[in-house]
Amino acid sequence: MHKKLFIPGPTEVAPDVLQKMATPMIGHRSKDASALQRDISDKMRQVMYTQNPIILSTSSGSGLMEGSIRSLTAKRAIVFSVGAFGNRWFKVAEANNVPADKHETEWGKATTPEVVDKYLSTGKYDVFTITHNETSTGIMNPVEEIAEVRRKYPDVLWLVDSVSSLAGAKIEVDRLGIDVCITSSQKALALPPGLAVASVSKRALEYGKRVKYRGWYLDILEIYKYIETKDHQYHATPSLSHMFALTYQLDRILAEGLDARFARHKSMAEFTRAWAKKYFALYPEEQHASQTLTTITNTRNIVVADLNKELAKVGMQISNGYGDLKEKTFRIAHMGELTLDDVKQVTAAIEQILKLR
Ligand SMILES: Cc1ncc(COP(=O)(O)O)c(C=O)c1O
Repeated sequence: MHKKLFIPGPTEVAPDVLQKMATPMIGHRSKDASALQRDISDKMRQVMYTQNPIILSTSSGSGLMEGSIRSLTAKRAIVFSVGAFGNRWFKVAEANNVPADKHETEWGKATTPEVVDKYLSTGKYDVFTITHNETSTGIMNPVEEIAEVRRKYPDVLWLVDSVSSLAGAKIEVDRLGIDVCITSSQKALALPPGLAVASVSKRALEYGKRVKYRGWYLDILEIYKYIETKDHQYHATPSLSHMFALTYQLDRILAEGLDARFARHKSMAEFTRAWAKKYFALYPEEQHASQTLTTITNTRNIVVADLNKELAKVGMQISNGYGDLKEKTFRIAHMGELTLDDVKQVTAAIEQILKLR
């Protein structure tokens, strides 16, 4: 039996979207391939509220996290971390010999605009990174407020990991001034894993020229060069199957309506948060709790693996905590294709299995 996924990726994929992955192949140097990428870009720009070029990478989101920090940092990057995925970005920088520092906030709390201001005011950095939605702690960082302080530092590039939030929460890339905004196919976009998507500002593409060793496969400038000069093609063979599914899925997303989609996610988040507070406790500080997943403190010391065994019998699966939070928390994701009814169903099932009252 298929288990409905309430885990923070991979998420449920609608059957008709899945079917599009089986579209017969076309040549990746064909006019049809160019048209496909152009079409995806036009629709992604709407979802991301940007005029910036869109690039795809046949990798998961980590690929573009690596590609962006490596190919755009000429001087030094400051990575603001609020959990496991912020720490990953720093690790990626170190592994690529990219000069970088990390500021790690106490887990469960958000990155504050003040701390961003403090680091950027030193003049040491030409790149800073923010995790929009930290999937381990369930924090959604206040990018609106961070954008305010960032305006004081227009020469510093802003890279955002919106892997587990884009298409489930509104991120107005151009209004906020985000230079690179990255997501993965298997989260709120609700596609199978294997494709990463990013918007890249013209400024980032210009700044990147200062970096000598940018790698090749994940070099943002190399990827963009083919978009620009080869009519929206790629330097290496892309996952056309994902592209067929993505263009179709973007039509579904736009047909739902972006505001309606974000409101659906908000209502699922509010419900799950209230439920978490009633029976357990919320792990992140509430004013910065995520709109796409809820990280719940395991106050009853439940064994999540056992709970999942029982949930499997009724065709559902939730997630244990991530990394250091493995046993201390568990997570219910509410993103992509899921609805408020789905969330009510999974929480009711948990109440019944654990005999909560
Ligand atoms: C916030 C965040 N950043 C980065 C990643 C890494 O993305 P991927 O697994 O697509 O490489 C994840 C994956 O769960 C994530 O949740």
